[in-house]
Formats: sequence, structure tokens, C-alpha cells
Amino acid sequence: MNHLLKMSDLSKEDIIDILNLADQLKYELKHNIPHKHLEGKTLGMIFQKSSTRTRVSFETGMYQLGGNALFLSSKDLQIGRGEPVQDTARVLSRYLNGIMIRTFEQKEVEDLAQFGNIPIINGLTDYCHPCQVLADLMTIREYKGQFDGLKMCYIGDGNNMANSLIVGGLTVGMEVAAACPEGYRPADDVLEFAKGYGDKFTLTDKPLEAAANADVLFTDVWASMGQEDEAEIRRKAFAGYQINDEVMAAAKRDAMVQHCLPAHREEEITSKVFEEHAAEIFEEAENRLHAQKAVMVKLMK
Ligand code: CP
Ligand code: NVA
Repeated sequence: MNHLLKMSDLSKEDIIDILNLADQLKYELKHNIPHKHLEGKTLGMIFQKSSTRTRVSFETGMYQLGGNALFLSSKDLQIGRGEPVQDTARVLSRYLNGIMIRTFEQKEVEDLAQFGNIPIINGLTDYCHPCQVLADLMTIREYKGQFDGLKMCYIGDGNNMANSLIVGGLTVGMEVAAACPEGYRPADDVLEFAKGYGDKFTLTDKPLEAAANADVLFTDVWASMGQEDEAEIRRKAFAGYQINDEVMAAAKRDAMVQHCLPAHREEEITSKVFEEHAAEIFEEAENRLHAQKAVMVKLMK
């Protein structure tokens, strides 16, 4: 494993290895056991979009690992004025030991990896959000003990979260059911990937069908970063694609709820369900820190 560009870069063994290390690092942090695996190393963090969790968890994580993190807003970098990614990659490779990038196009992340010679970590693109899904899988395993026999349900936009959850969930052995409205389905290559898992994957436009007997339910915002102009159209398209009491009643009684955050209450999730499952949702947010530390150690040590 040289980079983390998308979920399908990882085998089941890679994911389990990362989660095992993440569990260990979480234990070590809670027990004040030093784990400075990246002393003297620097991570550059390029942001073309806003962030609370990704920025703070990577920066804090790097500090806890004994290294240093640089926040690089694309507004201040020459990349924001048109310097090619190919050149940026070759320059930054000479200063840094790794780059985390949050941007729009997946191709930009792939180009950084192709032209640079240091590990690249995808901190979210329009296409996928692998760091988030590693934290999600970590949280599911923490609560449920294993993945086999579990059903994951995703309700909402077939966006970056849906794409990564479908690939990640199927890879670790879960059944995955997605409910997305027509016109807002997951990426074609993700649906192609899912075909390889036969009836372990289902795609419907009926949220209750996807939620039936689910062990863990996911949703995400109706309008992602960069889609603010479409918010009104999307509000109409996604009406009914909400995690609420009715959806929860279709799932298993002990079903968990996960949300990558930020959440829009009364849109994709009701306030009531959100607050009833807040413990799991904020554990999921915390696990971003541990899962990403594991990724950085695997890639940069
Ligand atoms: N879930 C997530 O990536 O949050 P941020 O946008 O705050 O980083
Ligand atoms: N789908 C959301 C996820 C935010 C973490 C977005 O891209 O804005």
C-alpha cells in the first residue's frame, strides 16, 4: 500500500490491518502510552474545501505521532492560481513525507500520486471519502464485534460517502443495501464493483426496503460541498430519503446509526434519531483520529 486514493485500493486484509492498528493506537492514546512513530516527519494538508473533522484529526494525529502537519489552503498555494498539479507534486515531494488532500476531482488526487513520490491520502473528493469510511468500519467493528452477517443500509445521495461505503462494506464482508433516488445513484464503477458481490448488494429507490433488517444505517447530506446551488432542487429530490422513526422501525432493534457529519437535522436525519444515536455518531467522529493515524503510520513510517 503506497497511497490511500480510494476504498477499492484496499483489500480486506489491508482494511483489517489498518483497523487493528487503529484500535491499538486508540488504546495507547487512552492509556498515555507513547506512540511517536512519525518523529521528524511532516504531512502537508491541502484543502480546496472546508473541513472541521478532517483537518483537526489529521493535524492532532500527526502531533500525537511525533510529527508535524502543515495546513495548506489552496487559496494560498500557487495551485489556486493555476500551477499544475504535476509540478506541485514534484516540489512538495522534496519537502514533505506525505500529503493529505481534500479537493473536488478525484483525478487531481490520482495525479498527485502519479507525479510525486511520497504517499498521498485522499481526504475527500466528489467521488469518495476513504478516510471517513475506515473510521466508520472501525466504529461498526467496535460496536458489533465483527462484519460477517451484518447488513449495512445507506439512504440518500449516491455521493462520495455512498461510493466509499458500498465498496468498503462489501470488501469487509457485509451485505449492503442502498436507497437512492433516480438520477442520484452511486458512481457507475462502484455499481460495477458491487455486481461482483451478487445479491450481497442491492440498490433501490425505497428507503424502507433498504432499511429492512439492517444492523447499521448511514445517511449523508442532500447537497454536498460544491453543490450549494442545487440545494433547492435536491431538497425536493430527496424528500422521503430520511432516517426517521419509520426507517428505524424497519431495521433491527439494536441497529446503529452513523453519519459522517456535518448533519442537517430534519433533512437526511431527524433530530430525534440523531440524538438517540449521538453516542455512536460521535464515537465515529472520534475514530477519524485513530483510523487516520493508522493510515499515516502504514504509509509514512
Ligand atoms: N466528515 C468529515 O469529513 O468532516 P469534515 O468535513 O468536517 O472534515
Ligand atoms: N458528502 C459530503 C460529505 C462531507 C464530509 C460532502 O462532500 O460535502
